[in-house]
Amino acid sequence: MAEAEPRDFKVKKAWQEVIRGLRRHRRATGETPRLRSWADVERSLDTVPLTDDVTALKQLLRAMLKDGGGEPAAVQIDGLLDRMLPAIAEGPVVVDIDGFPADFEPAMQARLLRQGTAPPLEVDAKAAAALVREFDGFLLGGSRLQARARVRDGEILPAVPRSMRAQPLRRGRQGAWLPYTDAVGKRSLTPLALARRHAARFEVEEVIDGFCGLGGNAIAFAEAGARVIAVEQDPDRLALARRNADARGVSIDFRPGSIHELLPTLPAWPLFLDPPWDAIELGGLLDPDRPTMLKLPREFDPASVEGDWNVHYEFGEDDDDFAIVRMLTLIH
Ligand SMILES: C[S@@+](CC[C@H](N)C(=O)[O-])C[C@H]1O[C@@H](n2cnc3c(N)ncnc32)[C@H](O)[C@@H]1O
Repeated sequence: MAEAEPRDFKVKKAWQEVIRGLRRHRRATGETPRLRSWADVERSLDTVPLTDDVTALKQLLRAMLKDGGGEPAAVQIDGLLDRMLPAIAEGPVVVDIDGFPADFEPAMQARLLRQGTAPPLEVDAKAAAALVREFDGFLLGGSRLQARARVRDGEILPAVPRSMRAQPLRRGRQGAWLPYTDAVGKRSLTPLALARRHAARFEVEEVIDGFCGLGGNAIAFAEAGARVIAVEQDPDRLALARRNADARGVSIDFRPGSIHELLPTLPAWPLFLDPPWDAIELGGLLDPDRPTMLKLPREFDPASVEGDWNVHYEFGEDDDDFAIVRMLTLIH
């Protein structure tokens, strides 16, 4: 049984190769590439000219089907596949991951990659494939990471098992920590631990939250003891934020309207801005003389905001987001 396994696996691969060849040909001749039934496959096998190797496979597979899985055909299939298919890397593989923003320190790199050290990393081949899949092209602080595994010529990485594939962390998945929510507000609500962290990083006695949403950050600032003015342009969401503040027992000065219009009418307090991430519009809100904190998506390029900023890469705290940079915070 132990010996039969690789052979069965390769026979399956052979069929995949044949079916792929058939599909390629059907697509090239304007037919729908999908093979809907066994009859479709049979018809295609008779009519489609395949490359020599694939034709040989086709004949061998047919021979196997006819004589009930005869050993010689299977052995020949293995030989052919060894020639046709690239070898799959096994054992430890070194993975290089480059392109981190200059201030994304090695300890943060190790945490993001869920490894004990920063790259280069030596991991088993499947883990290498998972790292490349997850981090090649990953956007962080205006940089695009490149992840490459050092495999031998002609070798490829194994497929990434489903259990090793990174699950995207859905925003708002951790559940709302405020009782009154709507769908949009819930998605953009800052998780409690991070809202508290923002308040601790931006130690101010007074603050204007220019885009308060359901009130996540505004409430955390108030709970940290700051006086807070919170602006929100959606009146329904503002009403929810008011109820949230009441429910948490904090007092906040809520103002309906657009921060772009209201800011000149408000006191010159420090400013916290968590703009909608799909349309970041900071024009006119930034003043080098006003202490300001920006909460921005992790892909965001801090260099694109004029001024001298301290950049923080905010990792989550819970098990499911501990290794995830959830957002950037810029402070000046
Ligand atoms: C990312 S959410 C803020 C989430 C908030 N920090 C929290 O934890 O609940 C951005 C909010 O800004 C509001 N908004 C968008 N443009 C605005 C503007 N010009 N003035 C005030 N609020 C605005 C949106 O309606 C949305 O509720």
